[in-house]
Amino acid sequence: MKIVKNIKCLQEIVFQIKKKKQSIGFIPTMGSLHAGHLSLIEAAASENDFTICSIYINPTQFNDKNDFNTYPRSYETDIELLKSLDCDLVFLPNDKEMYPSNKSIVNYNFTFCMNILEGEKRPGHFSGVINIVNTLFNLTRPSRAYFGEKDYQQLWIIKSFVKNFQLPIKIRSCPTIRDSTGLALSSRNDNLNKEEKVQAIHLFKTLQNFKLNLESKSPKGGIIDLKKNSIDFFTKNSLIKLDYIEIIDEENFSFVTRIKKNIKYRILIAAHVGRTRLIDNIPIG
Ligand code: PAF
Repeated sequence: MKIVKNIKCLQEIVFQIKKKKQSIGFIPTMGSLHAGHLSLIEAAASENDFTICSIYINPTQFNDKNDFNTYPRSYETDIELLKSLDCDLVFLPNDKEMYPSNKSIVNYNFTFCMNILEGEKRPGHFSGVINIVNTLFNLTRPSRAYFGEKDYQQLWIIKSFVKNFQLPIKIRSCPTIRDSTGLALSSRNDNLNKEEKVQAIHLFKTLQNFKLNLESKSPKGGIIDLKKNSIDFFTKNSLIKLDYIEIIDEENFSFVTRIKKNIKYRILIAAHVGRTRLIDNIPIG
């Protein structure tokens, strides 16, 4: 596996691959790799001639300095892990390479979706994500790029970015990977202590209860009641602070209060568990 830190070197390798008309599969990450990332790498390796993974903790997508400072970092372990996989190149740029000047930062706001839920709670977050994803796409020129469904709103916005700006890249998504308790794998889980890990399972449990109720033939109340029950439950739990629980239509990301047959929906949840903010989602319909 090639380890590349420099843009010029990456561009030269990408140029040679493109010259041979080979396809590139790209997985952008912020490191602290877990089984969720590994599933993306496996998917990329199975569909492309050359697999590139990037590890870069992008400062412009953090609206909270403390969140940026405490984001888990484990470069050496990550590289060892990638070496054991079907990854051909890992790109490890630094801030100067990614943002040569303040002028390289664009304020993206091409869909309402950037300003609701995660976008509302973390102002500027999605513009920061698009800034870095766009730069990485330009550098790696992938045929296909891979994202996890755990960051469902991010995935939706990236798909809409590629569509709106007509980028010749296919966006592939892979399902969320969970541990044996149901907790969605996330690099941020590294910041949870034992007790918080136990409490964090309530995010998935709440999603599952919501889904079971909505899909049952005799639901105990509608979406509004279910949301109220979840809010009540989390209010009683001193370790978890619920940020939101919402159901959206996957097609247009609109909030719904009633579900219809043959339409795909997602239940999205975000909560602070101790000092760590977690998000999760599951499909319905
Ligand atoms: O999902 C992530 O890890 C990040 O938001 C991404 C896509 C690598 C951009 O920094």
